[in-house]
Amino acid sequence: MQPVEIKKDIFWVGSVDYDHRDFHGYSRSPSGSTYNAYLIKDQKNVLVDTVAPGHAGTLLCRLAKTLDPEKVDYIVCNHLELDHAGALAEIVERVKPEKIFVSQAGLKSIAGYYEGKNWPVQAVKSGETLNIGQRNIVFQETRMLHWPDSMVSYIPEDKLLISNDIFGQNIASSARFADDFGNDDIYVKRIKEYYYNIVLPYSPIVLKTLPVVEALDIDMIAPDHGLIHRGKKAVRFIIDAYRALAGQKPQQRALIFYDTMWQSTERMAYAVCSGLEENNVPTRLMSVKSNHHSEVMTELADCGAVLAGSPTHNNTVLPLVGAVLTYMKGLRPLNRIGGAFGSYGWSGESAKQLQEHLAAMNMEMPAGPVKCAWRPDKDTLKACHALGRTVAEALKKKCA
Ligand code: FEO
Repeated sequence: MQPVEIKKDIFWVGSVDYDHRDFHGYSRSPSGSTYNAYLIKDQKNVLVDTVAPGHAGTLLCRLAKTLDPEKVDYIVCNHLELDHAGALAEIVERVKPEKIFVSQAGLKSIAGYYEGKNWPVQAVKSGETLNIGQRNIVFQETRMLHWPDSMVSYIPEDKLLISNDIFGQNIASSARFADDFGNDDIYVKRIKEYYYNIVLPYSPIVLKTLPVVEALDIDMIAPDHGLIHRGKKAVRFIIDAYRALAGQKPQQRALIFYDTMWQSTERMAYAVCSGLEENNVPTRLMSVKSNHHSEVMTELADCGAVLAGSPTHNNTVLPLVGAVLTYMKGLRPLNRIGGAFGSYGWSGESAKQLQEHLAAMNMEMPAGPVKCAWRPDKDTLKACHALGRTVAEALKKKCA
């Protein structure tokens, strides 16, 4: 359990959690995640961020390999969500810091989680600089990326940005740096997954924040989850990836998510899929029984169109489809084209309700919902195919 020196006298002292899956409703990647924390050794020794509950021992053990924990002078909490600050009480007790720095909004979070603690907490303002000897730490508030208290810490002397949640990915691995990971496809997928399940609603803020980051001289971005982006090229790559993800430019791909009771809606889904594919729109068909709502959201990152299918069940849609819609709406995707379909036995509300749900997310709906009683016959399957074709044509026009 060794610390990893990422810059001279700056060490990764975090924890790798191979088992963690569920994170406030977001099902993390199958490989878990990391809680990254960083120790800066200088005239004042600074611990930037801590770890999740249950991981304090790992952090302290790693840290103690390079510094007596009681010699940590300051703790910086860039963000108080418990994956970064759930172990704070144990660490404060061991380290007894002279000061704990938080953002202005962080005062509320730290008081909320740790009411009654008589800790030496000090709020810093955006742009404020803390001199720790040979180095300075410049704090930059990043409100709502993704909590009100979020901020990042920039160390100009090392060209290092410790970026907290931004630019992270949920990857548990023995690699600390993206260039050591050895699987670019997974790395890119986890960046998209993280963005689309956590950061997406704040895309307008991301677009305003990126120029602020680009104005800094940086050759390393060290997030609090996953791999560290090392070198100017890697820094450029992750900034460009965020700009593309936040921009949500329409892409000529479609996503169909659906649930089915007796395979009628499923047959409709396949016919809609054919209509899209035969009109040059590659399509991913996702049963919500087989795919968690987080996976559906991740897939949406590459899709300019999204179509939803459900049979009518108790005058509404099946619950797993309802869950995806609720989750998707909260994440506020922009700039999509939608479509809806579903089978029924008697009352038949589902397709119209799906149409309304998607329209409520400001999706463009080029065709009405397709519904069918009992089993889809030839005409219904033709109507589903036509729905796919109409959405494909609208999407191609949008992408042109
Ligand atoms: Fe990684 Fe917002 O916590």
